[in-house]
Amino acid sequence: MPKLLPIITSHQGSGGRSALTCRFRCGDACFNEVPNTSDNEYVGDVIAGALSRRSMMRAAAVVTVAAAAGSAVIAGPGASEAAAATPDGIKGGKGKGARGLRFAPVAPNTTDAVTVPTGYEQNVVIRWGEPILRGAPAFDADQQTAKAQAGQFGYNNDFLSLLPLRGEHGRQVLVANHEYTDEILMFKGYDPENPTREQVEIAWAAHGLSVVVVEGERKGGGLRAVSRHHLNRRLTATSRFRLAGPVAGSPLVRTKADPRGTTVLGTLNNCSGGTTPWGTTLHGEENFNQYFANAAKVTDPTAAARLKRYGVAGEASERKWERFDDRFDLAKEPNEANRFGWVVELDPYDPDSTPRKRTALGRFKHEAAQPRLTHDGRPVVYMGDDEKFDYFYKFVSSKRVAKGKSRAAHEHNLTLLDEGTLYVAKLTGDSPASEIDGKGTLPEDGEFDGGGKWIPLATAGPGGKAVSHVEGMTAEEVYVFTRLAGDKVGATKMDRPEDIEPSPHTGKVYVALTNNSDRGKAGKPGADEANPRNLNKHGQVLELTERRNRADATTFAWSLFLVAGDPNDPSTYFAGFPKDRVSPISCPDNVAFDPHGNLWISTDGNQLGSHDGLFGVATRGDRRGELKQFLTMPKGAETCGPLVQERRVVVAVQHPGEVDGASVEKPASAWPDGPGRIVRPSVVSVWRKDGRDIGV
Ligand code: FEO
Ligand code: CA
Ligand code: CA
Repeated sequence: MPKLLPIITSHQGSGGRSALTCRFRCGDACFNEVPNTSDNEYVGDVIAGALSRRSMMRAAAVVTVAAAAGSAVIAGPGASEAAAATPDGIKGGKGKGARGLRFAPVAPNTTDAVTVPTGYEQNVVIRWGEPILRGAPAFDADQQTAKAQAGQFGYNNDFLSLLPLRGEHGRQVLVANHEYTDEILMFKGYDPENPTREQVEIAWAAHGLSVVVVEGERKGGGLRAVSRHHLNRRLTATSRFRLAGPVAGSPLVRTKADPRGTTVLGTLNNCSGGTTPWGTTLHGEENFNQYFANAAKVTDPTAAARLKRYGVAGEASERKWERFDDRFDLAKEPNEANRFGWVVELDPYDPDSTPRKRTALGRFKHEAAQPRLTHDGRPVVYMGDDEKFDYFYKFVSSKRVAKGKSRAAHEHNLTLLDEGTLYVAKLTGDSPASEIDGKGTLPEDGEFDGGGKWIPLATAGPGGKAVSHVEGMTAEEVYVFTRLAGDKVGATKMDRPEDIEPSPHTGKVYVALTNNSDRGKAGKPGADEANPRNLNKHGQVLELTERRNRADATTFAWSLFLVAGDPNDPSTYFAGFPKDRVSPISCPDNVAFDPHGNLWISTDGNQLGSHDGLFGVATRGDRRGELKQFLTMPKGAETCGPLVQERRVVVAVQHPGEVDGASVEKPASAWPDGPGRIVRPSVVSVWRKDGRDIGV
């Protein structure tokens, strides 16, 4: 019989996250009113008819044994207990599986460590506070200063990109997001009602982005940071960013400090991102709403409605930054919040460059931004808006990538994301609405699937000129209040669209929908074919196929690739793969592809009693849907930024120890440095002890 793990009590309504995560990460987004109260129709209504019947696949896929388990797990640095589950092996999982996924899956567990498969090794690449810039001091938890932090690796690493560094053997450029700060886990004796100026300024410096060169012994093996490299860089909540594209200079983004509306100080809540084919990185600004105070004092009804749609609410903010800088007080600086919620583009190879906020990509709670190219070389960027019942989008550039390494080509490529069309997705199911029962029962045709269209919202042209495609909204309004534009055109309300990743091998696009505990509640939209479970705890992954596989298509087909949860739960679905041969998975969040075309999925808020982890799943061939857990996180941590190279997996361990009641004095985790040392979010690399490729 399977051994089921005890269910960890989670913060009601928030997936498996702790209350602390909700408070610091997203300003308790799950507990405030859902911002989308528009009356868009749902996916449901439609076409029964000649449908392909795949019920047989479904029949083969039920039954079975529980929760995965692989061969032995090993504890990482700071491990204080053994893995909680007894590994007894997924059938066919040992040494077999799709190429790239041939490892013994890690069992679900609650070990306070990074647990990797047998035969794999790991190291900590860089920790919060390690000095990366010349002159920055070594980290000292008891002597933190804003000045020191501005030269050190930031807090709560999320998105990671690794870029080649030509001419420097064994070295790569690591770019990391620092999504948010957990003050209570950073500062001894932190008083949330009375933060000091120094604490606030440390938090400003601990947000943002890091660029740091890393090096390894060989193609695989551990990575370590190269401090003081000339490319190393910190961008924080006070660094200069340029607004680019159609919103630059708009009255909607002008402030007292920036009357021209072109220069913003800082980037905030950078969650995930993307890497462009022209060598830059993209960074989503996600839960920016929580940093702004006094929305309740905004009386103009239009302005108040716009703030509400973005979840900007209340009086004092969680971190009280408004006490130290007026721009965080909406009563004093009503437009400052309009300058956040964008996708940032950074050129990591030019340490003197000013990063741009690309306004043609719209403003919402940007989870990530992942590009692919059209058949004629124009970038398309897929983007999710991470909120219950919000939408997903794509931007199609009207300009082609210039090849070559000339200065002119590079400068041209830095304008690609300023001109093009922004679309929002509308999905239709192909099964009758009556067959969607809200419990995840597959409809008669054996699949949650259907079609959809990309609805144009606005098109930006040269010189920041733009046209709106939404009646009653100017182009500037569409870009700054993109959620409202999506409402007007009837976009589909999804279960928290997170990371979206096009497969470099097939062109199919994978959308992680993390969960939605409000689906089907009174007064809220009920299940539809793309979001088929009410009170959706575990989330799903949607596979989207653009018409004729063209990235710039305006219509697409879709199906649910995974319906997550315990494989014993009849509502789960793993692309038809036998469910006794998969790992349990809950709350898919960030996604990435390995060199073999397998999809890797990190989780945030596991609701099955195990710590969060990283999973690989085959998307093609007769192993399609075979999902295996590669690693698990320390206590309280979320798996972020997965990168899967031939011989190395790199993950960001975000918010370790973020457990209700924890503080610096009462830590919930001893990761990464063991008992008595402050808990530090860090980047970890994993490789095979025998030096061979990952999962072959
Ligand atoms: Fe920052 Fe949507 O996770
Ligand atoms: Ca169907
Ligand atoms: Ca995320």
